[in-house]
Amino acid sequence: MRKIDFAPPYIDEDIIAEVTDTLRSGWLTTGPKVRELEELSAKMFGLERTVCVNSWTSGAAIVFKWLGIGKGDEVILPAYTYAATALSVIHAGGTPVMVDIRDDFNIDPQKIKEAITPNTKAILAVDLGGWPCDYDAIKKVVEHDDVKNIFNATSEVQEQFGRPALITDAAHSIGAIYKERPACQFADLSIISMHSVKNVTTAEGGLICLSLPEPFNNEQVYRWMKVNSMNGQDRDAFAKKRIGSWRYDIVTDGLKANLTDVCAAIGLVQLKKYKNFMLPNRERVYDHYTEFFSKKDWAIIPPGRGDGNRSSHYLYPLRIKGITEEQRDDIIQKIMDSGVSVNVHFLPLPTLTVFKERGYDVDNYPNTYKNYACEISLPIYVQLTDEECAYVEEQVEKAYIEVVS
Ligand SMILES: Cc1ncc(COP(=O)(O)O)c(C=O)c1O
Repeated sequence: MRKIDFAPPYIDEDIIAEVTDTLRSGWLTTGPKVRELEELSAKMFGLERTVCVNSWTSGAAIVFKWLGIGKGDEVILPAYTYAATALSVIHAGGTPVMVDIRDDFNIDPQKIKEAITPNTKAILAVDLGGWPCDYDAIKKVVEHDDVKNIFNATSEVQEQFGRPALITDAAHSIGAIYKERPACQFADLSIISMHSVKNVTTAEGGLICLSLPEPFNNEQVYRWMKVNSMNGQDRDAFAKKRIGSWRYDIVTDGLKANLTDVCAAIGLVQLKKYKNFMLPNRERVYDHYTEFFSKKDWAIIPPGRGDGNRSSHYLYPLRIKGITEEQRDDIIQKIMDSGVSVNVHFLPLPTLTVFKERGYDVDNYPNTYKNYACEISLPIYVQLTDEECAYVEEQVEKAYIEVVS
């Protein structure tokens, strides 16, 4: 039987050579490769600075530490996302305030507006599957005078914002475009994941993108985050290695979240190939599926392009009209039986034990449930051939017909 994986990493000889070069260099942890990855990503995204960290999750911990999130602070986020989005708020000591999504899978700006209180310190919007949020509408909400007037800052950084910070969970959306510009320019901070299944990987890793407005100094915030990702040490091991440079100080209670050079080497080569090779190939798969499914009256195509926006095509979240959750599960089983790996993104957060036990109830998020119940994520990656795409399409249609008719 044929076997089509869901999201294998893209590893070629150039990547292997770069990792090997790092291993041979004798410098394994944070050093020149991390610096190069930060410089290249900042240049590609049109930002002054990005900060490499060892996961999205640790990036969020650093961002919330910087923002001074703690007990009593609320962070508004969508109910339709991966658990890490909400857990990051809990770990910081704050309260995740979940709101419903629109039919493009992204947080509903109107629901944000309704959920804002004086304790709302941040919005953590998710570019789900790589499709950028409605940043214009979200910014309108957080920058509204009514919101600024009730904003209750409890840290120096919050004081400087004077409103809830807009943070993007850009775990999926490296390279996404919003209004003809890199999407990560629109939030104050965006956090990208470079986990093994992501568009650009470092095995595990993350990138904090800084796009802070006045009066912030992005370079200073970069320095703060570097120190706070390295135990609060004022100079990294690479700087200390220089002869006569052994002395250091611990200037704050920093975390340990730095990315290693061995891992950065993978992402560095991928990022160099991203715009002209990796992303276009994801787009090719998106177009192949879209050409097929747009002719089926039972299928709903995921957003990919339009109005100057462009997805990073991390996921292909196909939806099927008029089916129940049980029928969706049956369709998935039949597709899996044909050797094609598919998935569901995501189980609504309020259906997960950890959140249910905290009192969240999926009935309060009808649009999240509606979209989840009929969603099937199809394989989408660089190596997937056109012929394999056609096989996936054939199996999805076959499974749909068998279950529904
Ligand atoms: C939306 C979202 N946010 C956050 C994360 C966490 O990323 P990481 O595993 O790099 O911590 C993921 C991981 O899949 C994700 O999908």
